Order: sequence, then structure tokens, then C-alpha cells
Amino acid sequence: MAADLRLENRLLKEESRYCSYGDTVHYLKKPKIFSACDGSFLYDYHGKSYLDLQMWYSAVNLGYKNKQVNEAVINQIERLPQLASQYLHREKIELAACISKQMQKSFKARGRVHFNVGGSQAIEDSIKLIRKITGRTQFFAFQGGYHGRTLGATEITSSYRYRKPYGHFSNRAQFIPYPYCFRCPYAKRFDSCKYYCVDQFERLFETEYNSVIDTKSGECEFVAFYIEPLQGTGGYIIPPPDYFKKIKKILDHFKIYLVDDEMQMGFYRTGKFWGLEHFGVKPDVLVFGKALTNGMNPLSGLWAKEELIKPESFGPGATHSTFSSNPIGTAAGLETMKLLRDKALPGRINSSGRKFVNMLKQLQKKYKEIGDVSGLGLAIRLEVCEKDGITPNRRLVDQIFHEGLKGNLEYKGEKYGLVLDVGGYYKNIFTLAPSFYITDEEIAMAHKFLDQLFLRFTKPKYKS
Ligand SMILES: Cc1ncc(COP(=O)(O)O)c(C=O)c1O
Repeated sequence: MAADLRLENRLLKEESRYCSYGDTVHYLKKPKIFSACDGSFLYDYHGKSYLDLQMWYSAVNLGYKNKQVNEAVINQIERLPQLASQYLHREKIELAACISKQMQKSFKARGRVHFNVGGSQAIEDSIKLIRKITGRTQFFAFQGGYHGRTLGATEITSSYRYRKPYGHFSNRAQFIPYPYCFRCPYAKRFDSCKYYCVDQFERLFETEYNSVIDTKSGECEFVAFYIEPLQGTGGYIIPPPDYFKKIKKILDHFKIYLVDDEMQMGFYRTGKFWGLEHFGVKPDVLVFGKALTNGMNPLSGLWAKEELIKPESFGPGATHSTFSSNPIGTAAGLETMKLLRDKALPGRINSSGRKFVNMLKQLQKKYKEIGDVSGLGLAIRLEVCEKDGITPNRRLVDQIFHEGLKGNLEYKGEKYGLVLDVGGYYKNIFTLAPSFYITDEEIAMAHKFLDQLFLRFTKPKYKS
């Protein structure tokens, strides 16, 4: 125990001296170090267990240390762990085929897959693809949207804070309000708004003086619209059912491509293979990463429809990265795709998601500070407010987040910690992305832990 504490203190000292702070976020004064993981749990150096409800921001959908994915990686390490990407290997080809066939199944769309390593790099590749094919550079994106931190991805990510220190961004996107009905940007109510937000988007195209279109030639200045089907970092916001159908009609009319960023919502997070499948529209380009390898060797990529990505237009070397389609990542991806073929999985995700949301709704009855709870599959949001149920309450979110990591929550006589992720425009939302294999007992634990946490900082309406 004393040796563990010494090791932890030494590591923290060295971190503060040798690690750049720029590649991470220090939410805690004393950063947390974990030493092991398994299933839905992380473990610290003192052997304490932490129930994880964020699973590496939805990268580890199939649970930590998933046995089959680990075995696929180990087999690949023993057979062909390294290969320059100018040469081919079976796993790359089969994984590209697998994802392309899934696109045919999900959207009846024919196209090709292009790999890279991180999510932002795949976004970057999608930007280059569109720019190369169309010769045009301007994009729409959403307020509250997040597409990564490379320079190109930052241009289409809404936060000015991410751009501010890095000079002028000439291709900064035009940011459109997202249909965030709980906090409607137009102060409407969904039961009576008649998709007023779509009318407002359409209005941009009425006259050249609304800044997006040359009405004489009919050409729009914007060539693609980058969307997340549910906003991830923005707070797991679910758009209303017909929103994207209505938007897509406008995009098609003005020949604007739809680029679907499925980095967080892809691979069944929402109960369907791709999040966009819930909304009845087809993407022109789809970008993915994170959960493709269950958080193992990084791998990301894009799918684009054939007319955009055909080799005559987007040929060899159009863009390149040393580690794209690396053998270990593609082997992990192939095994993940195999596990996702389990016919019982979507049912399991939807049923656990319903149980989770019902559990949170019970808490909502007890605590005035829980303003909104909703979910699609296992992409779940809990919006924390002041007592009025609407004013964002970041302070309480921070308190709960920190307290969860102290590791003094009780379940059946044992002490645990709770790992949460915070998102939302006002940083007042717990964005919950539990493992697809979360058990009923782990949902019961989550209930007890959240109840204990709210109880420590607020007054419940009743005692239970
Ligand atoms: C929707 C979305 N797009 C892109 C990214 C960027 O991916 P990465 O962090 O792997 O660069 C993220 C990361 O959180 C994301 O959530």
C-alpha cells in the first residue's frame, strides 16, 4: 500500500515535470492514475474499483480488455504486426469490405473505405476529399458540434476557444444552430414549433443577401454540411425525428454534401449500426474511429460514395499516413465488426439503454436538479440544472464528477468510485456511454452511486 502510494506520487511528480499539459485535460487538481481495467471497471493503484459510465468517450463499447478483440490483437502481433501501408494485408482489405458492405446494408449506398489513425485525421481526410473533388472549401457545421483538434477539424468545430490561440482560420465553418429542443435556440416548443429551425436554415437560401448563395447562378458558397447524428461532446443531444430528412432535402437541392461524423455514435452506440440510420437520410461521406477497434490500436477512417472516392478522382497518394490501415488496428477492427454481427446485440443495447434511462428518470423524480434525461440505445444524457430544472448547473456537475472519483461510494458494503464524462454547451451534462455488456447489477450500482452523489450536494424532494 505504502509502495503504491510512493509510485503514484512519483508518477504525478514526473507528469507535472515532463508531460505536456496540452494533449490532455486536467479536470482534477490531483490527476487520477489508473493501473488496470476489466469489463465496465477501471482500477487504481490501491486496488479500488471504479464503475466506468463513459468507456473512453464511447471508444470501448465492448468492454475493457474484451477477450476476443485482445486475442485478435495478440494473434496479429505473432503473425504480421508491422507492414508499410503501400503493401497490402488481408485485414485491411477485409475490414474495408466489411464496412462498405455495412454501408450497403444501412443506407443502400456503394462506396469505398479510406483509413487513417485518429478521428481528427479522418475528418481531415474527408475535408481533403471534398476539396479535391469539388475544388471548393467552405462548410456548414453545427453550433455545439465537435469534430476534433487538428487545424482542419478545428475549423468545423464550433468553439472559438479551440481556434483562438492559433491564428486566423480562413475556412471557419458557418455554424448553424443544432435542434437542441430542451434549450431550443429559437425559444420554441417542439409540440408547436413545426420545425421552425429548418425554416430558419432554408431562409438562408432565399436571397443572396443572406450570405450563402449566388441566386443568379444558384451556386451555394458552402459545399458540405458536417453533422453528428447526435451531438457527442455537445451533450448527447438527440435531434427530433424528421429534422435531418428536412435538412437533407435542402442540401440536395443546392448540391451540398452531407458528411456524417459517426466518431462517437457509430458502431451501435445508439442501438443502430450508425446513428444516422435513426433519421432516414443517407450520408455522402461518413467518418468513423474510436470504437472501431474497441479502443485498441488506433484506427479511423472514412467511407465515401463511389462518385466521390473512385480511384480516377481520389487516386494513390491523394493523402497518406504511415500508420493508416496498420495491421494491428485493422485486426482489432475486423474482430470488433465480427462481434457486432451478434444478432442479439442491438436488442441488448436497446433494452439496457431503456433500463438505464428509466433508472435516471426515477432519480429525476427525486432531485429537482435533474433537468433532462434521455437516451438513444446506450447514448444517454443527464442534464444537471439549478432547482428550477432549466438553468445549467455546472458547479453541481463538477462537484459530482470530483466526488465520484474519490472512491468512497458504497455498494453492498464495499467502496467504489464512479467515472463520468462531462459535456454540453454549458458543461452541465453527464454524457453517459456505458459498455454494451453492462449488466443489470451494474445499472443498479450506477443508480446507487448517482443517488449517493446527488444526496451529498442537494436536498431530495423525498427520502427513499
Ligand atoms: C464526433 C467526433 N468527431 C471527431 C472527434 C475527434 O476524434 P479524435 O479525438 O480521435 O481525434 C471526436 C472526438 O471526441 C468526436 O467525438
